[in-house]
Amino acid sequence: MHSVEQNIEPPSTTLRLLIAAAKEKTERQDLLDSLICREEVGCALTSRGYSVVDLDVAPHDLDNPSSLFLRVANFQDVCVFNLFEGFGSQPCQEADFCELLEKKGIPFTGNPSHALRLCLDKWALKLRLRQEGISVPWGICITSSYSSISMGEKKWPFPLFIKPSREDGSVGIDETSLVQNYEELQEQFQKKLPQFPDGLLVEEFLGGSEYSIAFLGNDPYEVVGVSTLDYDRYPALTPFLTYKAKWDKESPDWRLCPEDLELPAAQKELIIGTGAKAAAIAGCKGYFRVDLREKDGHFYVIDVNPNPALTRDSGFARQYTKGGRSYEDLICHIVNLALKDHIKEAKS
Ligand SMILES: Nc1ncnc2c1ncn2[C@@H]1O[C@H](COP(=O)(O)OP(=O)(O)O)[C@@H](O)[C@H]1O
Ligand SMILES: [Mg+2]
Repeated sequence: MHSVEQNIEPPSTTLRLLIAAAKEKTERQDLLDSLICREEVGCALTSRGYSVVDLDVAPHDLDNPSSLFLRVANFQDVCVFNLFEGFGSQPCQEADFCELLEKKGIPFTGNPSHALRLCLDKWALKLRLRQEGISVPWGICITSSYSSISMGEKKWPFPLFIKPSREDGSVGIDETSLVQNYEELQEQFQKKLPQFPDGLLVEEFLGGSEYSIAFLGNDPYEVVGVSTLDYDRYPALTPFLTYKAKWDKESPDWRLCPEDLELPAAQKELIIGTGAKAAAIAGCKGYFRVDLREKDGHFYVIDVNPNPALTRDSGFARQYTKGGRSYEDLICHIVNLALKDHIKEAKS
């Protein structure tokens, strides 16, 4: 695995950082988190001499982007620090927003639109990874057109895991996502399909440890850290990351805590190599995480997350700052990656 040299350049005097985030009324903690993040990123950039402006993205901005671009055109030399993750009901709009920026030739941090779009379509990503020889768990995608007859005829390899095919942040994942038999499976389809009409992914349940690799860079990637969640250490808790485990401090599952464990060298190399290959196939750039789980000694990619949390208390920031670098270094590093990639793309 290559390591990318840290290269943090001082900001140009004319450059404005527009920090984009969704403007919508919401109580959802995963969405509110991006506003907290905007505050923290803004402070970090300001402390390093960047000139920072908030860029609110409202639903009408994507239908009619001219007013959005008028706001952007107020500044000559801009880079968007992109914390826009779509709207609650339509997460895929995160990719639409980046596509607009790409068409206008505006540099922005994080992943390009095609990577965001692919990673948010868990079924398409899974097929793509499998095609390229990456281990993914057995699974199928169920939509409302899937008939109960074909369901009944299938030999289902229980236990199974059900998750929305086009969500992230563990939205739609709760204690009932793990099903042991056909009756439970049918009951969950009936309950969850109306909530997630884009489809449900049914996968073989991988009961072993979960690994999450944080990456930084535009391929070659720097490995920021590998965290391990060993569910055997929490026999009383849910053996997977529900929405509550990620976002509800009052939930018992909040105690599930990924750790930076020392892994056997060969295993670590395999996990990192698989994660980096999956990210490169997905076209990831900037900063992102790849999740794997283990079953019977095999490691499978379950998710590529192109929008990991970037708050000061996030796992990403914690891992980056472990070796002595600061949160401000991380945020500036992400901006420099975006600017370098923009120059490279413009030349090619
Ligand atoms: N096939 C699976 N087997 C076991 N656990 C799974 C599986 N797929 C997902 N999970 C659990 O559900 C969590 C969320 O699923 P993931 O695919 O990572 O979606 P998200 O984009 O919401 O993070 C994972 O962190 C993991 O704990
Ligand atoms: Mg995940």
